[in-house]
Amino acid sequence: MKATILKLLKNSQGYLSGQELCNSLSVSRTAVWKVIKQLQSEGYQIEAVRNKGYHLVGEADVITEAELKTSMGGGWLGRNLVCYEEIDSTNIRAKKLAEEGAPAGTLVIAESQVSGKGRRGRGWLSPKGEGICMSLLLRPPIAPSSASMLTLVGALAVVKGIEAAAGLHSAIKWPNDIVMNGKKVCGILTEMSAELEDVHYVVMGIGINVNTQTFSEEIQEIATSLYQQGGVYVKRSHVIAAVMDAFEAYYETFIQTGDLSLLLEEYQEKLANKDKEVMVLTAAGNYRGKSLGIHKTGELLVQREDNCVVRVASGEVSVRGIYGYV
Ligand code: BTN
Repeated sequence: MKATILKLLKNSQGYLSGQELCNSLSVSRTAVWKVIKQLQSEGYQIEAVRNKGYHLVGEADVITEAELKTSMGGGWLGRNLVCYEEIDSTNIRAKKLAEEGAPAGTLVIAESQVSGKGRRGRGWLSPKGEGICMSLLLRPPIAPSSASMLTLVGALAVVKGIEAAAGLHSAIKWPNDIVMNGKKVCGILTEMSAELEDVHYVVMGIGINVNTQTFSEEIQEIATSLYQQGGVYVKRSHVIAAVMDAFEAYYETFIQTGDLSLLLEEYQEKLANKDKEVMVLTAAGNYRGKSLGIHKTGELLVQREDNCVVRVASGEVSVRGIYGYV
């Protein structure tokens, strides 16, 4: 009922009569009033005027089921939506739901995480109200060896979603990071459960720094937020909706071929270090080269100093710019 009332308020230009709300929802005036009070306490500015009704004059930047259901486009991603005020990690929760049989497209979102996970065993800071912490559950009909390409599909969706919702330009630091002006604004952590031939499920965790004003000293040189880059607050539900919309389209294109061939051109355009000098860090030693873009199976093509072009797979290495993180 909360989502329905919020949707009606969002769609109405002027006042929405309390009686009309009661009639269309078949509930009492008290029930409607309680929902209005709850929305107001979350930060929605709703004017209540006797004999006129309710008017939404200001929206809230909250991550609730009602907010997301009234912002998202209604596709398959997020139809099963699970929201938490606080959780250990949305990836951990999404994996549990996957084991319990949750459908593909389940979206787990939290206002904050107490044990947010980053790649390579690192943590991910997720203070309340500042960013987006979400995990998508996918059950793709692909071989386990192809699953790492999904991270690249996710990265494309984040860049497009940020552009659509905030009007800001970002780029992909292959394979997992989204960067703006040389600093990281988003990280992606993709985890999989599979057998030799079959993928049981994939959980793609996406963390986006949206309205963070300042970062701690340790990370301020490499981290940024949409707020820092654009100078204005961005409504997180709009970013989530835009990323989900973009992801659905890219994912369907990816599934058609099971590789990135149809997305290659767009990916190269969004690749931060295309045609730039990079340093490839491997367990066996580091080497310099020029990033030529990606192969249709997701590896980065690097031209080494001896002119030999190698395909760098994401699991094995880190790639840095010669003079810094990007
Ligand atoms: C990285 O850059 O190291 C990946 C960061 C991924 C963070 C996201 S936040 C939502 C999801 N839940 C987690 O615990 N991690 C991912």
